[in-house]
Amino acid sequence: MVVPATLLSLIIILKKLWQGCSSNRHNFIEELFNFIASKTPSHNLAWDIGTGNGQAAKSLAKLYKDVIATDKSPKQLEFAANVPNVQYICTNPKMSICELEKKVGKKSSVDLVTIAQALHWFDDRLHFYKQVIKKPNGIATWCYKLPNINNSVDSVFNKYYNVQPDWEPTRKSVDDKYKTIDFPFEPICDNNNNVVHLVFQTYLE
Ligand SMILES: C[S@@+](CC[C@H](N)C(=O)[O-])C[C@H]1O[C@@H](n2cnc3c(N)ncnc32)[C@H](O)[C@@H]1O
Repeated sequence: MVVPATLLSLIIILKKLWQGCSSNRHNFIEELFNFIASKTPSHNLAWDIGTGNGQAAKSLAKLYKDVIATDKSPKQLEFAANVPNVQYICTNPKMSICELEKKVGKKSSVDLVTIAQALHWFDDRLHFYKQVIKKPNGIATWCYKLPNINNSVDSVFNKYYNVQPDWEPTRKSVDDKYKTIDFPFEPICDNNNNVVHLVFQTYLE
């Protein structure tokens, strides 16, 4: 088959962009994982849901004996980092708890569940995921907020960001910093019973 040159260029550019997702993406700050890991008494198995290219999974692999990293997209997993104690599994979003138990682990067998910048796609499944978590361990989920540079840069950036007719409505909870998601877990509190808020500042390279 003869592929026209313009189409071929477009395919090459799209392929490079797609692969770029894995090489140019952020790395989460290690302090975040150290904090989360300090809250689970044992460190045998972590499950990273919606792992994408495995950014969180590879950091978890330094702190947990085994990591299972799942995503519904086989293409995302194809570009995930190869780490000996991380097992990548493609999961169907509609999987039953029995099917998940076979792939991930039995009820109360997982020390930690993480969901990095992906919960807004499946927050209705939180109760479902809760069942595999070993008590009193828990779930950690986070999203990244918009960057702030200074007033002149931010005002231009926000103008374009707010023209977003193609955003899925579910992404609104990212703009709300996940505060609008019904979260069926107890928050982590300090010694004075105040909910712990952590803010990490980092730079994209
Ligand atoms: C924005 S990416 C985040 C990837 C990665 N966790 C990170 O922080 O870079 C969202 C990921 O969620 C995955 N995803 C969306 N819906 C899903 C579902 N129902 N089950 C599993 N993964 C899902 C997508 O395929 C995508 O890889």
